[in-house]
Amino acid sequence: LAQREIVWTIVVAGGSGERFGGPKQYEKLGPLRVLDHSMAAANEASDGVVLVVPPVDAEREGGVAGGTTRCGSVRAGLEAVPEEATIVCVHDAARPFATHAAFVAVVTAVAGGADGAVPGLPISDTVKRVDEGRRVIETLPRASLFAAQTPQAFRASVLREAHRDGGEATDDAALVEAVGGTVVVVDGDATNRKITCPDDLAWARSRIAEELR
Ligand code: CTP
Ligand code: MG
Repeated sequence: LAQREIVWTIVVAGGSGERFGGPKQYEKLGPLRVLDHSMAAANEASDGVVLVVPPVDAEREGGVAGGTTRCGSVRAGLEAVPEEATIVCVHDAARPFATHAAFVAVVTAVAGGADGAVPGLPISDTVKRVDEGRRVIETLPRASLFAAQTPQAFRASVLREAHRDGGEATDDAALVEAVGGTVVVVDGDATNRKITCPDDLAWARSRIAEELR
């Protein structure tokens, strides 16, 4: 990774897994838990890592107590990142298959001058924007659309500024965009799938079983 940059990663594992039906971050995936896989990739790519977990688990996991929203958890994590960090990555614990290369790609883009970098996957379905009655307002041009994943990397000062007002969004890049930061999309990876519903864990387990065979 880039010399002269100090890279810290916040691994957010503070959710309750409503769609999954429980705290999916602690589910076993092979010999390790989902969050242990995500932590290993983060540790390999960073000078330091902050783990954010639900407040009741903070002591047991040696982590920081999270917030009621993902952004709240990122903010709790940011407070534990030392001021000397120059690049901060944010990674979903629920993405156990993020590779070292994914971290390198986003950190390299920020070291090269972007305020933020996110891995993106081309969308295969056609995307429609609708009103409250589900009447279609427009069909978006698919070629310019990407589905954003994590790890996402940011210039530390810009990420701190973006979170200063306590804004909410489904990823950190959106908050950085809102303060005028330049965010670029690098190539994502279909294997870096988020565990959201039980079928995602079933897929992940079969993938791990295949790897261990
Ligand atoms: N997350 C967090 N703090 C929250 C909410 C989410 O740290 N208050 C984390 C989750 O633990 C997860 C990541 O953010 O690793 C992505 O969120 P998501 O997949 O939505 O997980 P959950 O919020 O737990 O699931 P759900 O939305 O179905 O309740
Ligand atoms: Mg959620």
